Amino acid sequence: MSFRISVLGTGYLGTTHAAGMAELGYDVLGLDVDADKVARLARGEVPFHEPGLAELVRTHTRSGRLRFTTDFAAAAAFADVHFLAVGTPQSADGEAADLSHLRAAVDALAPHLERPCVVVGKSTVPVGTAAELAGRLAGLAPAGRAVELAWNPEFLREGHAVADTLAPDRIVVGAASELAEKVLREVYGDLLERGVPFLATDLATAELVKVAANSFLATKVSFVNAMAEVCEAAGADVTVLARAIGLDERIGPRFLRAGVGFGGGCLPKDVRAFRARARELGGDSAAALLGEVDRINLRARERVLALARRALGGVLAGRRIAVLGAAFKPDTDDVRDSPALDVAAAAARAGARVTVYDPAAGRSGAAARPELAFADSLEAAARGADLVLLLTEWAEFRTADPRRLAALVAAPVLVDGRNALDRAAWTAAGWTVHAPGRPAPRS
Ligand code: UGA
Repeated sequence: MSFRISVLGTGYLGTTHAAGMAELGYDVLGLDVDADKVARLARGEVPFHEPGLAELVRTHTRSGRLRFTTDFAAAAAFADVHFLAVGTPQSADGEAADLSHLRAAVDALAPHLERPCVVVGKSTVPVGTAAELAGRLAGLAPAGRAVELAWNPEFLREGHAVADTLAPDRIVVGAASELAEKVLREVYGDLLERGVPFLATDLATAELVKVAANSFLATKVSFVNAMAEVCEAAGADVTVLARAIGLDERIGPRFLRAGVGFGGGCLPKDVRAFRARARELGGDSAAALLGEVDRINLRARERVLALARRALGGVLAGRRIAVLGAAFKPDTDDVRDSPALDVAAAAARAGARVTVYDPAAGRSGAAARPELAFADSLEAAARGADLVLLLTEWAEFRTADPRRLAALVAAPVLVDGRNALDRAAWTAAGWTVHAPGRPAPRS
């Protein structure tokens, strides 16, 4: 059977999922309450930077397989499978997740669900949310219990979202009924045929898998940043340490890059929301662990700023700093909870004259931090700088010619806040290179 699919919420997750489902051959209707966004997407325009996504959206809006609407009744009438992909940001008044958008989407859709269908949660939620939504659906939908609920967490990474959607490393489905699980096995049939592992479980486990995965990744980053603190104190080198422990297959090399720490719209808020939920459930060890992960991460930002201050001889005020990077990581223009912007803003608050350059996040960065100056090229940012501070490891920075940049700056002093550059090459080009967790350069 060929299902018709709706995707509620057209942010990073929803837009990518909707386009991915169209690519897998389904007729898809994306829904958002933001009429402007819907109009842009319907014209094939993606309002954020994600490699390959604009092409996919354009292809399928042209073919007619992918359409967008603001109308919940239309989505209910159209689709057999409704994916919930609305945001669950951190609450304004605490660490817990704000579920108001998710509840609002379910409350708006449910009264129109008149025939059997499956509602599939993809949003990241505190464990127990799916059970609550199941009750809401059963109470509000005219089709009652014929509306099935499943939870199918999403593991896509920004910057790799299209590939992660079309070739995921696993599909996890929590379902209360065999029917819901069977429908999702069919929906993802092509991927399963290609050998993608499918894990069927209950709703609570599926919800937890997602926050546990993100928390583990965050823990790895904070672990290596804690090691960086010790390495600095001991005069050791965290990059060699990370490489050496990462060669142990049980540890693995990824997410062991020490630096300014993790940011973005997912890891920081998921760690906090999971911590809040674990505490509610009496999971004190998990809550304590995640609290420490968060603290180490925020300290990593302060430590990179302190390193910049040291590199400038102890004073930031009045000094010109070229900040390379605004996005929370390369290949995205997302600046949500970006360590780069945080450190740049803190340097400016301390009196430094900061100029930021980012290959894609200049506009989003300037909107988030209007007090900062942005340049539109690496050269323009570097010209006359007393310090170059790398905070997002874009390929443009990793492949930049250190000799050419040395000729532009006032002083060839670099803080590599991501341990991403070739220290030997930059040193050979005349730069004094400082980096978190590595021995101070010889003066
Ligand atoms: C993360 C997860 O990796 C995805 O699996 C998940 O689906 C997604 O959150 C989500 O919940 O939607 P993403 O936020 O795109 O994806 O970013 P990551 O690639 O995980 O990077 C997170 C942060 O960790 C970035 O700021 C990155 O710079 C930082 N990081 C990563 C380090 O500081 N060091 C490392 O070694 C690796």
